[in-house]
Amino acid sequence: MTTTRIGMPTPRIDGRLKVTGSARYAADQPTPNPAYGWLHVSRIARGRIVAIDERAARAVPGVLEVFTWRNIGAIQPGDIQSQKGFMGTSIAPMQPRIFHDGQIVALVAADTPEAAREAAQRLVVRYAEDAPSAGFGSAGLTSGPAHKSAEPPEPDPQVGNFDGAFARAAVAVDQHYATSTQHHNPIELFSTLCAWSADRLTVWEGSQNVSGYKHGLAQQLGIAPEQIQVISPFVGGAFGSRGSLTQRTAIVALAARRLGRPLKLEVTRAQGFGIATYRAETRHRVRVAATPAGKLVALSHEGEEISSRPDDYKVSGIETTTRLYACPNVASKVTILHADRNTPGFMRSPPETPYLYALECAVDELAWRLKMDPIELRRANDTMREPIKGLPYTSRQLMPCFDAAARAFGWSRRGAEPRSMRDGDWLIGWGCASSIYPTQMAPATARVRLTPQGRATVQTGTHEIGNGAYTAIAITAADQLGLAVENVEVLIGDSELPPAPVAGGSNSTASVCNAVAKACEEIRRKLGKQPLPTHGAIEAYAENVPHGAKPEQVAALYKGVSSIGGGFRLKDRVQAAFGASFVEVRVHARTCEIRTPRIVGAYAFGQVVNPKAAESQLMGGQIWGVSCALHEATDVDRGSARYVNTNLADYLIPVNADIEQHQVIILPESDRQVNPLGIKGVGELANVGMNAAVANAVFHATGVRVRHMPIRVEDLL
Ligand code: MOS
Repeated sequence: MTTTRIGMPTPRIDGRLKVTGSARYAADQPTPNPAYGWLHVSRIARGRIVAIDERAARAVPGVLEVFTWRNIGAIQPGDIQSQKGFMGTSIAPMQPRIFHDGQIVALVAADTPEAAREAAQRLVVRYAEDAPSAGFGSAGLTSGPAHKSAEPPEPDPQVGNFDGAFARAAVAVDQHYATSTQHHNPIELFSTLCAWSADRLTVWEGSQNVSGYKHGLAQQLGIAPEQIQVISPFVGGAFGSRGSLTQRTAIVALAARRLGRPLKLEVTRAQGFGIATYRAETRHRVRVAATPAGKLVALSHEGEEISSRPDDYKVSGIETTTRLYACPNVASKVTILHADRNTPGFMRSPPETPYLYALECAVDELAWRLKMDPIELRRANDTMREPIKGLPYTSRQLMPCFDAAARAFGWSRRGAEPRSMRDGDWLIGWGCASSIYPTQMAPATARVRLTPQGRATVQTGTHEIGNGAYTAIAITAADQLGLAVENVEVLIGDSELPPAPVAGGSNSTASVCNAVAKACEEIRRKLGKQPLPTHGAIEAYAENVPHGAKPEQVAALYKGVSSIGGGFRLKDRVQAAFGASFVEVRVHARTCEIRTPRIVGAYAFGQVVNPKAAESQLMGGQIWGVSCALHEATDVDRGSARYVNTNLADYLIPVNADIEQHQVIILPESDRQVNPLGIKGVGELANVGMNAAVANAVFHATGVRVRHMPIRVEDLL
């Protein structure tokens, strides 16, 4: 029997299920006699519903009911995430007041999806419309907190005297950057299936937080959490879109109860833009100054983010951008602005994607001013202590990542001047940027059972969101118990399992695998010198409380509350994963078409559990970084505050032909301080910084500095 080890490349144990179509996603769940739902959503962004004419809808054969605020029943608001709740938005569905384009107005239930769709389209809603604010540059933006937060907000990071140092500095950059709204477009559409049996509700919905959904839904429906089970064995695209409870779930649950039948809802691609979280539009002012030798003397990062009218969702990437480089004088600030938009929320590396983009473009601009190689500028300001509180990094391989990636990329052959490299009609640009993602963890629990036949079963309520959770857990248990990976069965994605935290902030592998290892350790202790149990199976349950967390947070986890900590929130140290992103762009001298023929990244993120899965995640991140820089943006109509390109023909994402060569280099790293297994998160590392690397490469190719994302042909004409 070959024993699996943590760190051996292992094919996904659920791979066959996925590629053969046997993996069951929410809407695939076979259910006897289901009814089908279809949403009708708001066509205005601000105002009130004056009347809903349901007659034509109700006349469609097969229609069972039209649910609106008049008949859906009581839904409690439920706390939003910033108040330690589970909701992504506080905007109640099905109410006369309209806060954003795509707000749920009605749910039609019918015997077939076709009848439900037809009826939903026949609803006639009359609105009284007010002039909306679409975002930056529109009248009617307001600032100031909409909610009281559960805890007093952390002060914005600052140290020394930024203003004085910046004013006196020899070389300085003072620039503004902007990032676009981006929307989740997972392959699995937002789907919910609810079935009641007496007073027990079962919910099948793709989720990054089954336990949170259970408790949040109980709050919304005013029933006991014990009456609810949330099941999500597979998720067809998460990245933050399924981390918080959306308003659709409670509606489907109530409607199913009223109908006395299971009810299945699949939200359309276009409606998805109003349903789930999305990446907020942001603006930045970055000021950075250095000595002639390239030592940073002053750094200020001010961010502005667009949120909805009633919510204060904030990504606040200044926690990271103020701590990446050594600098004695640092200031930062984030302002939330309210517009007539749905509430934004998590999307892969929510803080770092926009904020590090701004910082890493500014650093590249500073290098150009200093006539310094951008890698050498970063080396001059590398530090093992973050500058705000002077806390040590547990490990930090930023410069080794740069050196490894630069070597693989051939950076030494780069001409320093913009427009200095050319191949026929194509201007060639080489750019790079730092990647960083905080190493976060949360308390987690797991149960492991080992039989005399040498088979193990692991139970933990974590989530398979494409991260390879099934395989990482099987590898961990196999490693700890001396089994082959195929002898480990993994049960996850169910709110009735021992609870695990929300799969967010790249915490899952570290949090869950350490809990699994602890349970296995307990089994080994019970076994003593024997390799396997002799009389019946042995079982162990373990709770893992990471450094900086409190034991009572395990009790909170049983109430659905994840306590994600670590990263830059520890009192005694900081912990993060690092990387360096390199890209070659080619810009056509006449058409300004931008291509990305080569991507190289090197990353160090502690113990790698499954290099095969990690490489896939890093590759996906690199591609998302390119997507951010050159493709993705939700267009918002300035007059109506409505989303314009709500389909995959107009919402651009890169395809294979856009990504020609890419390379992922993983550096070995041993950091037993972060946790016993030494695991840092990797899920959100590689897209961070890659967007800036592309922007920096476009400058190097063309000499044109575009300070917003995405960069399009028209920006270079
Ligand atoms: Mo992630 S955006 O923390 O799901």
